[in-house]
Amino acid sequence: DKAGHKHFMAKEIAEQPRVIGEALRHYLGAEGTDIALPDEIDFTKLDRLTMVACGTAFYACLTAKYWFEQIAGMPVEVDVASEFRYREPPISDRTAALFVSQSGETADTLAALRYCQGKADQILSVVNVPESSIARESDVALPILAGVEIGVASTKAFTCQLTVLLLLALEAAKQRGRMTPERLADLTSHMRALPTVLNAALDEDAAMQACATGLAEAQDVLFLGRGLMYPLALEGALKLKEISYIHAEAYASGELKHGPIALIDRNVPVVVFAPRDSLFEKSVSNMQEVMAREGKVLLISDAAGAKDAAADAWKTITMPAIDPVLAPIVYAIPAQLLAYHTAVAKGTDVDQPRNLAKSVTVE
Ligand code: M6R
Repeated sequence: DKAGHKHFMAKEIAEQPRVIGEALRHYLGAEGTDIALPDEIDFTKLDRLTMVACGTAFYACLTAKYWFEQIAGMPVEVDVASEFRYREPPISDRTAALFVSQSGETADTLAALRYCQGKADQILSVVNVPESSIARESDVALPILAGVEIGVASTKAFTCQLTVLLLLALEAAKQRGRMTPERLADLTSHMRALPTVLNAALDEDAAMQACATGLAEAQDVLFLGRGLMYPLALEGALKLKEISYIHAEAYASGELKHGPIALIDRNVPVVVFAPRDSLFEKSVSNMQEVMAREGKVLLISDAAGAKDAAADAWKTITMPAIDPVLAPIVYAIPAQLLAYHTAVAKGTDVDQPRNLAKSVTVE
């Protein structure tokens, strides 16, 4: 049942304020800063976290690496499961291995989990299907509570994964004494406001649809981001190629001049995720490098960022202002809706893109 939407993907994008609200109620409750997690989760005895996943779930892990390192001072390794499982990486018994999977049945992720059994201190997973193999074979499985996801392009599972991973990073910061009670109270209250902020982001749908008309004509699209916006740029590019079949690549903005800038000309739209945070000025100078080569910049920022930088951009999408720590969850909305509207404009099969399966249970 698409609940009045044209596609399951559109329905699942629209559901995000509600399902994230439910995940927050489950893990955070209505007030206070206590995070409801099983007692076995003890970050004080760990030296590092190793996170493994595929596709969109891998980009959720990459985002979480920034959170765990910056907020909790905890070293994190992240890898795609298909590489990790055959690399034979050494795993110390002061490592927790964390697997992220919507389906809980992805063959490479499950094999990576089995490789870590008996080596890591603990096997954790963040899953949408609590009865899945990955959940069953973990010491602790945390549900993301996104509800059934039908569209092959993962949307609400991604933002629910991010929500649970951020809560885990906050718990790690708390346990390891890395965050003041004031900052923790501040961040948890911003998290409780996420459903409202996400609704405001969804209200920008018409602007995203208008941009998509331009993207639909492109052969290649580049996505750029710095810091927490870099994994999101990767996710935006994956969404676009999966459902619109347009060639899309993402780079850390600082990598532009190390090669990809050679691709820029007037035919290549460059999507830049750049909220007005501490890295904003650097993103603006990367944008200027693109525009100096006639590249068309689609800037995704907040009102303050748009005011400072939109003048020369080809198009701008304005997101609600948010604490920079939470920006990946909010900026996921334009990443998803740009891909969605571009695919609709091109007339592709949004929910069942060619060559792809919802659950990849073979290598
Ligand atoms: O079920 P999983 O989260 O383990 O799936 C991982 C990837 O196959 C999945 O995220 C894939 O990349 C999606 N189609 C992305 O939209």
